[in-house]
Amino acid sequence: MTAPRAAAMLSLYSPESSQPVSSYHVKSFGCQMNVYDSERMGDLLEGAGHVPADRAEAADIVVLNTCHIREKAAEKLYSDIGRLRQLRPDGSRPVIVAAGCVAQAEGAEIGRRAPAVDVIVGPLAYHRLPELLREAAAIPEDARRASWGRAIDTDMPASPKFASLPPRRHQGASAFLTVQEGCDKFCSFCVVPYTRGGEVSRPFADLVAEAEALVAAGAVEITLIGQNVNAYGLELGGGATLPALIAELAQLEGLKRIRYTTSHPRDMTRELIEAHAAIPKLMPYLHLPVQSGSSRILKAMNRAHTRDSYLATLAELRAVRPDIALSGDFIVGFPGETEEDFADTLRIVEEVGYAQAYSFKYSQRPGTPAATMPDQVPEDVKAERLARLQAAITAGAHAFNRASVGRHTDILLERPGRKPGQLIGKTPWLQSAVVAIPGAKIGDLIAVEITEGQPNSVEAIPLQTERTAA
Ligand code: SAH
Ligand code: SF4
Ligand code: F3S
Repeated sequence: MTAPRAAAMLSLYSPESSQPVSSYHVKSFGCQMNVYDSERMGDLLEGAGHVPADRAEAADIVVLNTCHIREKAAEKLYSDIGRLRQLRPDGSRPVIVAAGCVAQAEGAEIGRRAPAVDVIVGPLAYHRLPELLREAAAIPEDARRASWGRAIDTDMPASPKFASLPPRRHQGASAFLTVQEGCDKFCSFCVVPYTRGGEVSRPFADLVAEAEALVAAGAVEITLIGQNVNAYGLELGGGATLPALIAELAQLEGLKRIRYTTSHPRDMTRELIEAHAAIPKLMPYLHLPVQSGSSRILKAMNRAHTRDSYLATLAELRAVRPDIALSGDFIVGFPGETEEDFADTLRIVEEVGYAQAYSFKYSQRPGTPAATMPDQVPEDVKAERLARLQAAITAGAHAFNRASVGRHTDILLERPGRKPGQLIGKTPWLQSAVVAIPGAKIGDLIAVEITEGQPNSVEAIPLQTERTAA
């Protein structure tokens, strides 16, 4: 017995279809670019006549947009498929799409392990999603269960995915905009160069047009994203660089805040550093992952920066923008990491004074050079180092938040708080600020005074009742 696919899909894509409305749900498992891709797949599905559903359980088509960065992230795909393939009371199950970086890295394995998956599509090919759904619908259920009978596209074409995407439908005060995709850096622990391909920058004019559309639809904040966003345009030559793009977008009247993430320390150009002084709309915040405080480990990681070169870059930034808030990523337990190396990591956390940071236990990723390096660190040692590092990061974040008490600033309201009447917004330094303002709404940019610093947030009070509507 095979599970019937969602009736809605068959009728939607069959030639005699009168196009009944079917619903979709996209679930993101990964980074900001994964979130951006989810939104774009939603745009494509809406363009093909589907409507959004709040929950996967209620949708006719479920897209699982996966992440391959660590083992745990990748495993989530299989537990979700297991849940979704259970039959519903009416005997149907949703059409299941495995998208994202796991689909790219292990498309064939997904096919073997999870026969319920109807479509497998990589991050560089998802502009073909409606077409792949049509192909999948045309395959008889039984044939689809053989490995050849599934619609799959994990090609990495140099051809522009972005040019084939429909206009953005994004609504809301804050939006992501992918400006650069892929990575040429090949850090020895990381799968991204294999799942996203080489660095490719989108055309400058296309980005300005997409930003204009976002602002016209109500965005007051845009975060420019890329695996190595500060490498934007560098492979093209000719002046279309990230700081040039930021300067151009800063001209958009309705746009109040510009951010960018994630940057590689190697590509922090002088021009970009200076943009932090010259462009007021560019927020005083930088996520600049260092990964380790030990230059020996950084070399084994193939990071192309040392502890000292990283600190020198931060010193340059602080010289032009003294209030800049810094954030980073850390990996503990990289192969060969000694207690001494780890102590260097704890020291760099103290020395930099991060406003926040993310830390991870090293995860062995198939096909990466570090996976087969000798001296893999035992799990219990990684866990113990992670706990110490996280305590140091939290203490640093708390100190940063306490030091901002008394600041007068703006916050962009993002979501309701836990208590009635509370709202949570973001300060320019990306702190979550909890505030109670009667009549304010999500998307408002409001003037506040920071009154208290907690480990993960600040509290604030409004400075005036007048607000800038988004
Ligand atoms: N392009 C970004 C990072 C993308 S991945 C950069 O170079 O900074 C996000 C973070 O995941 C990385 O910064 C790293 O800290 C972490 N990460 C990547 N691969 C990992 C692995 N194999 N194990 C544990 N953490 C990993
Ligand atoms: Fe991965 Fe390194 Fe590229 Fe970042 S720079 S995506 S960590 S390979
Ligand atoms: Fe994950 Fe792919 Fe992003 S591996 S971190 S979703 S680039």
